Amino acid sequence: MPSQIKDITLANLGHAKLDWVIPRMPVLGQIRNRYLADQPLRGQRIAISLHLEAKTAVLAQILHEGGAAVAITSSNPLTAQDDVAAALSERGVDVHAWRGTAPEEFDRLHHAVLDIEPTLIIDDGGELTDRLHQGRRALVKNIRGGAEETTTGVTRLKALARDGLLAYPMVAVNDADMKHLFDNRYGTGQSTWDGIIRTTNLVIAGTTVVVAGYGWCGKGVAERARGLGAHVIVTEINPVRANEALMDGYRVMPMQDAAPRGDFFVTVTGNRDVITRDHFAVMKDGAVLANAGHFDVEVAVSQLRDLSEAEVPGRNSSIVGYRLKSGRILWVLAEGRLVNLAAGDGHPAEIMDLTFALQALSLESLLTNPKSPGVYPVDPTIDQWVATMRLSALGTHIDALTPQQQSYLASW
Ligand code: ADE
Repeated sequence: MPSQIKDITLANLGHAKLDWVIPRMPVLGQIRNRYLADQPLRGQRIAISLHLEAKTAVLAQILHEGGAAVAITSSNPLTAQDDVAAALSERGVDVHAWRGTAPEEFDRLHHAVLDIEPTLIIDDGGELTDRLHQGRRALVKNIRGGAEETTTGVTRLKALARDGLLAYPMVAVNDADMKHLFDNRYGTGQSTWDGIIRTTNLVIAGTTVVVAGYGWCGKGVAERARGLGAHVIVTEINPVRANEALMDGYRVMPMQDAAPRGDFFVTVTGNRDVITRDHFAVMKDGAVLANAGHFDVEVAVSQLRDLSEAEVPGRNSSIVGYRLKSGRILWVLAEGRLVNLAAGDGHPAEIMDLTFALQALSLESLLTNPKSPGVYPVDPTIDQWVATMRLSALGTHIDALTPQQQSYLASW
């Protein structure tokens, strides 16, 4: 099917974005060289739902160069970049995406990607898997497997598998060391503050930042907030993580106590209704609310809308203010959607290099080592290879175990 994009005349801007990131993704570059020579994906049809920005486009292009027919859409209504979509459509990939899709368009574009009748899928939050297990079940018989990008998607896959319903093998890319230790922590840590700062142009130093959730993403967001000079409060529901946050030097308290203290709030829990009406009721005038979790359900924006007397335009289209009866205004960034992608460009190229190398190699591993339906970890040799390639690209050398050390570790 021909690409469905906003405006092909934006392609040159998109090509410049791709050309900026390609030299900064050396691990994928290695894979690309092999794919061009060996064509390991020849005959495959790959459906992708990922945030369609420049680094994602590089992955899609490389899978195509490896011999596959590739169709892609964006996994969030606000995260497709129209210039990147245009450029990618000129690089041999079927693109069905534009920024700002209405819910029915978002659904239709996902179905358009599935019309490729995929043999492999890449998902970010389970959008393709959701549709394949409902209206598009007829397509399941072709599918050799897929890879899932994010914590939220892996949680859903495990629930599907637990109920005996998952119809094909899925690799939990999120859970690989070279993914969550870097992408979730340093990627989300940097890109979330990049999104907030470029959108608001406000100072962080000396303010109080409330981070909801102390998983790998929350750890990164809190660490970077501290680096920017903020006083950081962490809220958690998990006592182990709450202890971690305390020993990492943060204040820990319930959201109800944190609400009147915060200048900035960042939710990264993967759950819903983390900041709600009771919290809005006690927040400071001018507080800024941002979400960096997968879905837009962490900050209950609809409750805030109900409580407010008027919406106030922000300094740009990524900010909306809600004026409450008390006269206080609370500012919500990017409609409560992923602030790092909806109001920024996502994680840095050097980090997506690692994640997307894992994605490409995990798909390939499903061809060389077919699996029955279920959720699988990334093969540890793939994780090690990505780590080794990254070090080699940096010119960083490390020690190796001597035979004596190896037998010492293997002895009891
Ligand atoms: N760029 C592409 N996919 C992304 C993701 N899941 N998180 C951050 N940046 C991205």
